[in-house]
Amino acid sequence: MKIGTPLSPNATRVMLLGSGELGKEVIIALQRLGVETIAVDRYADAPGQQVAHRAHVVNMADGAALRALVEQEKPHLVVPEIEAIATDMLVEIERDGLAEVIPTARAAQLTMNREGIRRLAAETLGLPTSPYVFADSLEALQAAIDGDSERVRAEPSGSLRGGIGYPCIIKPVMSSSGKGQSLLAGPADVKAAWDYAASGSRVNRGRVIVEGLIDFDYEITLLTVRAAGESGQVETFFCAPIGHLQVKGDYVESWQPQPMSAAALARSREIAKAVTDNLGGRGIFGVELFVKGDQVWFSEVSPRPHDTGMVTMASQVQSEFELHARAILGLPVDVSLRAPGASAVIYGGTEAKGIAFEGVADALRVPQSDLRLFGKPESFVRRRMGVALANGADIEQARERAKLAASRVKPVKE
Ligand SMILES: Nc1ncnc2c1ncn2[C@@H]1O[C@H](COP(=O)(O)OP(=O)(O)OP(=O)(O)O)[C@@H](O)[C@H]1O
Ligand SMILES: [Mg+2]
Repeated sequence: MKIGTPLSPNATRVMLLGSGELGKEVIIALQRLGVETIAVDRYADAPGQQVAHRAHVVNMADGAALRALVEQEKPHLVVPEIEAIATDMLVEIERDGLAEVIPTARAAQLTMNREGIRRLAAETLGLPTSPYVFADSLEALQAAIDGDSERVRAEPSGSLRGGIGYPCIIKPVMSSSGKGQSLLAGPADVKAAWDYAASGSRVNRGRVIVEGLIDFDYEITLLTVRAAGESGQVETFFCAPIGHLQVKGDYVESWQPQPMSAAALARSREIAKAVTDNLGGRGIFGVELFVKGDQVWFSEVSPRPHDTGMVTMASQVQSEFELHARAILGLPVDVSLRAPGASAVIYGGTEAKGIAFEGVADALRVPQSDLRLFGKPESFVRRRMGVALANGADIEQARERAKLAASRVKPVKE
């Protein structure tokens, strides 16, 4: 493994597809290793574009545009940071040897749609998941809930007689960060949930998943890294589990390490290994799991750094971004924990372009705290604009500090 000189003919070139706050940190990690970076996003001045060697504004759902850009830039590695990409073209790019897709084009394809990854996990790999049905119309959705559906999977395995029932969750098959999701308490909620799912879908395919609610004690992200081991062969490494709190399907707080029973941790690793072995390639994966006692359910997986994993910038020796950079370059990784840590999200709270942040100094007066302000050109009420990080003697103290620091940062209209 050689790394060339950036901006020279022998440069090692990596293209990020999606250049938000997670991509920005991956780019910084790559820059530190002397990699030439190319940041692509659908809008100008995206966070990662501000720290990359070159930036391009492209609709990544447009396969032809994506291919043209890869042919122009000739990256060695193409690294998806978002799900909304023409993944069929990634398959072609990989097949035609234009670039290596991280972790694999197939992984990007399977995880961009809830149906692909859910069927793989539950039906192919036989892993426990929430009971679920897919529906293409309001009528089919109602039937899935009421029990006239064809195939319903029940936990831990086998089929469930009857429908999903209430409460249940409806999600568009193509969406992320809780967009278009509803929790349904009863029949009166079905119509509104269907309409909302159609509006929140990335691609208006009018297809949803309806899931039974898992009554978990807590949920985790198990960051799982496929990277070169001592032998040079790809091995699997697990970070300490990350606990997190979600509000309306979007993460607001995370901490590491989440305390777990030995049995639940072992089961979590087993599930994460099964899924990531199947997806293959090199890189980090955020495996989302629900835990109740010693019982663990697979929820979903991102074949890339995970938003809840931003805590690792405080809590690990190598952050999830550094781990991803190293893994994709074929370099060794160290997944060890440094100190208990936490992260707390800073939302825009306002709709405006070119906002300013007040209270930054007060926030940074919180002991062992740090901030990442992403530099997004436009703020929305529920847009993630920054994150506070903190360490502590334990996760409780780290969480208090991160929340306090986050609360002191006030996005304001200039
Ligand atoms: N079947 C379920 N039972 C219980 N809680 C659920 C279930 N499905 C989703 N949730 C809750 O909603 C959150 C978001 O769901 P999910 O991860 O499927 O959506 P998402 O839009 O992909 O979110 P993100 O992109 O932030 O990961 C979960 O982290 C969990 O807190
Ligand atoms: Mg999720």
